[in-house]
Amino acid sequence: MKGLFITFEGCEGSGKTSLINRLVAYLEKEGIKVYKTREPGGSKIAEDIRNVILDVNNTNMDSITEALLYAASRRQHLVEKVIPYVEDGYVVICDRYLDSSLAYQGHARGIGIDKVYDINVAATNGMMPDLTIYIDLEPSIGLARIQNNNREQNRLDLEKMSFHKKVYEGYDIVRKRFSDRIKTVDGNQTREKVLEDTIKIINPYLERMMK
Ligand code: TMP
Repeated sequence: MKGLFITFEGCEGSGKTSLINRLVAYLEKEGIKVYKTREPGGSKIAEDIRNVILDVNNTNMDSITEALLYAASRRQHLVEKVIPYVEDGYVVICDRYLDSSLAYQGHARGIGIDKVYDINVAATNGMMPDLTIYIDLEPSIGLARIQNNNREQNRLDLEKMSFHKKVYEGYDIVRKRFSDRIKTVDGNQTREKVLEDTIKIINPYLERMMK
């Protein structure tokens, strides 16, 4: 039995990481084989690339260099981890995938969604997730959450609010363009309700997988 590839997307502080942790605990309790991972990173080489991308000292990084590094990290992680685990029947839960590149590099950095999409299709051989959950939360709320939680900030967290608003706008375009694959959960709700809505979306996919 082949597994599933499910990705999670959202602006900074949207609650992805906490949702993923609780979802993984729920799925494991249900006896489902789960592999939790994240981008950029998720494997030794991909984590090394992550450190270059997110280093707060790399302030003069060119935007296309940035997009290519994300794509390189993505490919390495896909080949080394995602594909083998899916082939082995796991539900792979990945914190971010190519929609992040479309929203951040494509729209917010202004490279163009189509151009970044093409780079990523080349990097991934067109491998798309079976399902993507987008947590819809405005960046002003998300960033306030991060500051309250004292989470360590990376190079992209340090961008101006106008950048994060563009990321949010980018996600709106991307989720409409890929509405068959990307399902939205309202991030303004309680953690419990966010998890409940996510499980409702995922359940039919799990049922199909187990047939
Ligand atoms: P994280 O905070 O979710 O770990 O993600 C790291 C940062 O990288 C976050 O600010 C979003 C950004 N990012 C992109 O700009 N493009 C991408 O393709 C990915 C995967 C992440």
